[in-house]
Formats: sequence, structure tokens, C-alpha cells
Amino acid sequence: MASSDLVSRLDACEQTIRRRAPGFSPRVGLILGSGLGAFADTLERAVAIDYAELRDFPRSSVVGHAGRLVLGYHRGTLPVVAMQGRVHFYEGYQPWQVGFPTRVLCRLGIEALVVTNAAGGINTGFAVGDLMAITDHLNLAGYNPLVGPNDEALGPRFPDMSHAYDPGFLATLRSSASSEGVLLREGVYASLSGPSYETPAEIRMLRGLGADAVGMSTVPEVIVAAHMGVKVAGISCITNLAAGLSKQKLSHDEVSETADRVKGVFTRLLARFLSDLGQPT
Ligand code: HPA
Repeated sequence: MASSDLVSRLDACEQTIRRRAPGFSPRVGLILGSGLGAFADTLERAVAIDYAELRDFPRSSVVGHAGRLVLGYHRGTLPVVAMQGRVHFYEGYQPWQVGFPTRVLCRLGIEALVVTNAAGGINTGFAVGDLMAITDHLNLAGYNPLVGPNDEALGPRFPDMSHAYDPGFLATLRSSASSEGVLLREGVYASLSGPSYETPAEIRMLRGLGADAVGMSTVPEVIVAAHMGVKVAGISCITNLAAGLSKQKLSHDEVSETADRVKGVFTRLLARFLSDLGQPT
């Protein structure tokens, strides 16, 4: 796709959203992963837009991903745009399509993007139900959402990824977690394309490469945000032990069940983090 074509598709989407939520200027974007979408329901004076209403916005076929954009105020003051559900490469979308919703959020003027996901725990110090601040990632998904012509109006051809997860946000996440009494692990998230789960040999390889958790999302969104100069914070919910680390077979049901069980703590951490972000520095 020509780069000017991408910009005009983004403009069209942005205009639809601005028409639906006139005068709303979100400061923070949120991408809510598997089973973690409930946070969007806490936003006040909310406007919800189905992805189906947004041209070119890809729609998820995964159970547990609602497919709605929610614009509203966190605790009455901080304007937030939240994605309830995201798409994945394994659903058959093109790399640029996987990155498209993040680009739309960035075009709405957000200063911060918070990405969340369900992930398998590789670090043997982690337990099912732990939350992990993402400190860095390994892109092993076999594609990059920036492949194709580059439009300098969106960002540079070769974006720097040295601080893909903003160190300042990470420090804030640590203090938000400690204020809430939430145990927050930290680690490197490896992204594979899926949709099959990993083999035990692949998990041993990933551990050797420095991964603490593994999943099938998030990395393309973080790359797009880096491209567009938007700072990122990332949180994984460790929904299961990665392949070979427990006797149990891996299943999407286990992922959904754990995400559902942890949703209260997750929501509390996220709410506190957003409040802490909203404080003048
Ligand atoms: N592997 C890959 N993706 C995942 C996992 C996993 O173990 N758990 C949740 N998403």
C-alpha cells in the first residue's frame, strides 16, 4: 500500500471518531488484551464505538476480545481512549493492518500508550496470576508492522527501539504497584506469531534468549508507537506457565479463566497507574 494511502485511511478513521466524540482529546491510549477489557467499563462519560463502524479498523475473531473503542474519562479527569480487544497477525491480517489501530490512537494525540496482554510465564520465578511490567521485548513473530513504504509524516524509516518501554513509565508502574500493594514482576516479553502454542523446546530456546514471558501480540503495537514517537508502558498478565513447565496442557480456556480471576487486581493497578500518570510532574 502506498504511504499516502495509509495516511488518508488514518485520517478517515480519525474523523469518524472525532465526529462521535466531539472535542474529546485523549491523553492516554490503552490496549486491553484477552480477558482484560473490563477496565474500559470504568471510564466515565464514555462513548463506545464498535470497530465495525470504523472503516479499515481490523476486527478480532478471538473469544474474549470485545471489539470496541471506548473514549471516556478516568476518575473524572484524565481523557483516555481504550481498545477493548485487538487483532493478531495469526488471524490473517497484513502487518500494516495489525498496526493500524495503534496508529489511529496516536493520531488522536495520545502522549502515552499502555499495552496489556495475556502471556505464558517462562521465568520459573513467576506464578500463574502474576502481573509483569514489560521491560523490553523480543520480536520473533517473523514480521514487522513497518515493512512497506515509509511516510515521514508518520515517523522515521528506521525508528530507535532502545527505550521501547519508557523507563519513566516503568518507574511509575513500580511505585503505583507498591502503593496498591500489588506484586509486580518485571521481564522481557517474546512475541511469536502463533496461533499454535509453543513447544517445550521452543520455550527452552526462548529462556536462553532472555525471555521471561511469551505471547502472540503487543510487539507490533509497540513498534508502531515507537515509530510515531509515543511513549509506552506494558503489562502482561501471566495466565499460564509456558509449555513444558507444568503437566497441564495449554488452552485458551485457562488463559481466559486466569485473566478473569486477576481482573480485579489488574484493574486496580491500571487505575492507580493512570492516576499517577495524570499527576503533574
Ligand atoms: N504462549 C503464547 N501466547 C500466550 C500464552 C502462551 O503460553 N499464554 C497466553 N498467551
